[in-house]
Amino acid sequence: MRRRNYCCLIAVAMAVLLFIMFMCGAISSHTSVASRSHADFRVSGRALYKLDVSWPKKPELFSGQVFAAAVNHLQGLVYVAQRGENIPKVLVFSTDGDFLQAWNTSTLEMPHGMFLANASGDPSVWITDVGTGPYGHTVKQYSPSGKLLQVLGSPGKAGSSLSPLQFDQPAEIFIHSSGEIYIVDGDGGMNNRLIKLSRDLQVLWMHGEKGQGLAQFYIPHSVAVDSYQRVWVADRGNKRIQVFNSVTGDWLGSWGSCFKDDAPYSVRFTPDQKYMVVAQLNANQITLLEAPPVGIIGQCQVISTIQLAEDIKPHLVDLDLKNADLYVAEIGASQAQKFIRL
Ligand SMILES: *[C@@H]1O[C@H](CO)[C@@H](O)[C@H](O)[C@H]1NC(C)=O
Ligand SMILES: *[C@@H]1O[C@H](CO)[C@@H](O)[C@H](O)[C@H]1NC(C)=O
Repeated sequence: MRRRNYCCLIAVAMAVLLFIMFMCGAISSHTSVASRSHADFRVSGRALYKLDVSWPKKPELFSGQVFAAAVNHLQGLVYVAQRGENIPKVLVFSTDGDFLQAWNTSTLEMPHGMFLANASGDPSVWITDVGTGPYGHTVKQYSPSGKLLQVLGSPGKAGSSLSPLQFDQPAEIFIHSSGEIYIVDGDGGMNNRLIKLSRDLQVLWMHGEKGQGLAQFYIPHSVAVDSYQRVWVADRGNKRIQVFNSVTGDWLGSWGSCFKDDAPYSVRFTPDQKYMVVAQLNANQITLLEAPPVGIIGQCQVISTIQLAEDIKPHLVDLDLKNADLYVAEIGASQAQKFIRL
């Protein structure tokens, strides 16, 4: 009897010791991950996303300031655009985090916004370039391997002419599955324009006035079209999102109350159209808002926020339309990160 108790005691002591060792290991491995890749994040509200700390497998490949990401959900590819001297301007990863390719094109100066078009047909990657050299102030279409296919704008010439296609720091492009093109121009230059083009580049409608009034802009920074014929624009300088009818261009509404502290930098929708994903660069925050049903815009409502560590500076985002995973381009941290839809 006595002896059995003694054995029991040793077994319990060993179990306690093992438990303590396990906990210490778990805590130290957690902190080492956090300090290695700026992986601190905190979710408030509904938990919709969690960070994938293993994407990409070799984060040391990021060699410049990361400005934009674009996902081909059918091929499982993630394009990441970065800025800097003598570095590849686009890196291609798989959604599993494998590095696949760096573009060696010299036709890109300072990538700003990026969009993956026509994933189900002949995919191409569109990039807005705010550079001031011979290829700047343009919107360019590339093949998936980085071959330049088409240039919109007057390369190397910033301008605010009558031609809507003379850009000054074009910020982002969105191409609908119909092939119709939406461009926001620009990122602090002379133009403050939202332009809709047909597939063959005819101007269908445009809003092009600088100001704080309805349908006026101050630094229109990001654009997305939802499944209900509505165009959403991150009107950064005015700290609001404005909404338009995609067919007529009519102004439908505006959201400002959710962005009093920091402007919206990006607009994207989850593939189920339930949430809008907004990056707020200075607040180091990704904000998920309820996307209103067809028709009315109403008031904005924040469902969830992902608070990133200080100085991460999330700029633009894109979503994997297959599984709603989120890719965030982070200027401050010089990296892109993947968040998995829970
Ligand atoms: C990249 O460089 C290689 C070797 O010079 C060349 O064969 C290839 O065409 C280039 N790719 C692009 C997309 O420019
Ligand atoms: C997408 O690619 C297919 C195949 O090349 C092409 O027929 C179609 O016109 C493209 N669609 C758009 C919107 O560009």
